[in-house]
Amino acid sequence: TGPLLKLNNGVEMPALGFGTFANEGSKGETHKAVVHALNAGYRHLDCAWFYQNEEEVGSGIRDFLSQNPSVKRSDIFITTKVWNHLHEPEDVEWSLKDSLKKLQTPYVDVFLIHWPIASEKNADRTVKIGSDGKYVINKSLTENPEPTWRAMEKLYNEGLTRSIGLSNFTEKGIESLLKYATVKPSVNQIEIHPFLPQQPLIEYCLSKSIIPVAYSPLGSQDQVPGTGEKVSTNKDLIVIAEKNGWSLAQVLIAWGLKRGYSVLPKSSNESRIKGNAKLVALSDEDFEAVNNVAEGRWTRFVNMKDTFGYDVWPEESK
Ligand code: A2P
Repeated sequence: TGPLLKLNNGVEMPALGFGTFANEGSKGETHKAVVHALNAGYRHLDCAWFYQNEEEVGSGIRDFLSQNPSVKRSDIFITTKVWNHLHEPEDVEWSLKDSLKKLQTPYVDVFLIHWPIASEKNADRTVKIGSDGKYVINKSLTENPEPTWRAMEKLYNEGLTRSIGLSNFTEKGIESLLKYATVKPSVNQIEIHPFLPQQPLIEYCLSKSIIPVAYSPLGSQDQVPGTGEKVSTNKDLIVIAEKNGWSLAQVLIAWGLKRGYSVLPKSSNESRIKGNAKLVALSDEDFEAVNNVAEGRWTRFVNMKDTFGYDVWPEESK
């Protein structure tokens, strides 16, 4: 369902993807959501080692494929990501192989660095947490992720992933990585919705043949600081949806697709999973109306200092 986007190495990625991050509720929820999504026609699944549900994604894919023999593994585009404490080269390899085992697949379609932050691990490969309760940062690999990228390139050259890419990187980090990358990043997955429109970073990525991929395209993570204003209750957006007889989610998905990147709506509800896959096209007038809602909003990511104990983008702090 939906258009295909061509990555810079020729691999094709369905523009509409299904996010699996939200489905960490009860056991079995991710499995069900993935089967619903594949039945609804999604052929792009966004996963991550960190989500701790890749076994359920894997069994969901397996069950769907066994019930639908006309669909092959190669018809599905699968993303996974390496978490912060696994940026050392041997851990990058371990992480991808662990994800492949859980996903029950010999390869993924794109393997991403989840955050441009490297942190320390314990002897048992768990995240090391400092006395302040935050991740213990590996400064050297954070400031220079070249060894991590080399490990990603090796896995690409070995065929364990059909492309490699980034997530949550800003222009500065991409620029320095491009200086030494022999395999160019194919995508940069970032939060994008009308309250975080990311126009400058989107333009930068596209100018470098890196396709932006939008997480939280429905705006679930964001609200205007200090106001509580939410994408999901924005009156101007609701008017556009109602006028056309669409859901607000359909409007937001259409806006992302029209801007030229991939979108990853997520849901654990069967009818919303199906409804979000019913793609609609925004008229130029409605597209402009959503752009107007996005006008003048934040242009940077949330400050991750509170979560990871490290400000990834101090130069961009507001
Ligand atoms: P639910 O799982 O109950 O459907 P985002 O992709 O921006 O992170 O948004 C995901 C959130 O939006 C989830 O909480 C999901 O809840 C909700 N959601 C997904 N699709 C729709 C929809 N069509 N209408 C309303 N809420 C939706």
